[in-house]
Amino acid sequence: MVAQLPGPLIVAPMAGGPSTTALVRAAASAGALGFLAAGYKAPDAVAREVGELRRSGLAYGLNIFLPTAPADPERVEAYRRVLLPEAERYGVELPDPPLDDDDHFAAKVGIAVRAAVPWVSFTFGVPDAGVVSELRGAGCRVLVTVTGAGEARRAAAAGADLLVVQAGSAGGHSATTDPDGYDGSSTAPESLREVASAVELPLIAAGGTGTAADVRALLAAGAVAVQAGTAFLLADEAGTRPAQREAMLSGRYAGTAVTRAFTGRPARGLRNRFIEAYSARAPIGYPAVHHLTAPIRAAAARQGDPEALNLWAGTAFAEARTGPAAAIAARLSGAGD
Ligand SMILES: Cc1cc2nc3c(=O)[nH]c(=O)nc-3n(C[C@H](O)[C@H](O)[C@H](O)COP(=O)(O)O)c2cc1C
Repeated sequence: MVAQLPGPLIVAPMAGGPSTTALVRAAASAGALGFLAAGYKAPDAVAREVGELRRSGLAYGLNIFLPTAPADPERVEAYRRVLLPEAERYGVELPDPPLDDDDHFAAKVGIAVRAAVPWVSFTFGVPDAGVVSELRGAGCRVLVTVTGAGEARRAAAAGADLLVVQAGSAGGHSATTDPDGYDGSSTAPESLREVASAVELPLIAAGGTGTAADVRALLAAGAVAVQAGTAFLLADEAGTRPAQREAMLSGRYAGTAVTRAFTGRPARGLRNRFIEAYSARAPIGYPAVHHLTAPIRAAAARQGDPEALNLWAGTAFAEARTGPAAAIAARLSGAGD
């Protein structure tokens, strides 16, 4: 099973723009496995991307968000009042966000089943055993993203083929099922050790990998592959917003922080004004808070202001390089070392 991974490098799914079919193709051409990101997309857009990759005959994966428990409307409303000065600043109205948006979970699983997507990964929770067995029955291999031993045991019990072990150093949203207790302080070697002691499954390490030495160390520690996201954000083929590219290259950001300020779920991004101002007051409440802040983020993007944008990035963001994804993959794999 593991032998069928194209190689020890995985280009992470990155919802919100960075993941494109071009990035997944480039990953495949470099001997890495690339993932499409179904998150936030309408099912027909996901089906189109899956169709394109399927016809290409290349190895690829699809990542799907698990639905989360509905947010507490009172806490979301309280946060809306906290954000009113931002709405005024950017000249936008804050919506009454939907509390029970499930990101079209069932439709996206259905697309994966019908297309027999070779690799299907999940984040934000552990899918039911029934979902896992339906996918496996269709010929998909199922990966579940976990952040610790408890989630790993649940994923193993649900029938996952492999686990993506996501450390606190990772860019973007944490997969944690315990957002209240999450502090984002773990490194990839630490998370890998914790999960390896709990389950027998093959493990893919993710979080804070910026160099070939990082990748080598995780493989030496027993990971069957390393999943890198931030390292590919500046790739030519990535759909990363210009404001994020500029911010990452600017040298203005000294570090990253874990925050729920943008979406109501812990995520790591470049530490900007919005994170500083609102992290302490933001509730748990994904995806309601994501919808609540969307107009602010959209206006900030239009105005070219990175200070109210969710600039997701992992702790190794300063190692990210521009250029073709294949060159970035070669650099991470240690080609030429
Ligand atoms: C911009 C961005 C978007 C992300 N979106 C997703 C996603 O849609 N699904 C997912 O499972 N992981 C997502 N992640 C997390 C990655 O899968 C992975 O855990 C992380 O990128 C690894 O850490 P690194 O960024 O330090 O390499 C995202 C990460 C980033 C940076």
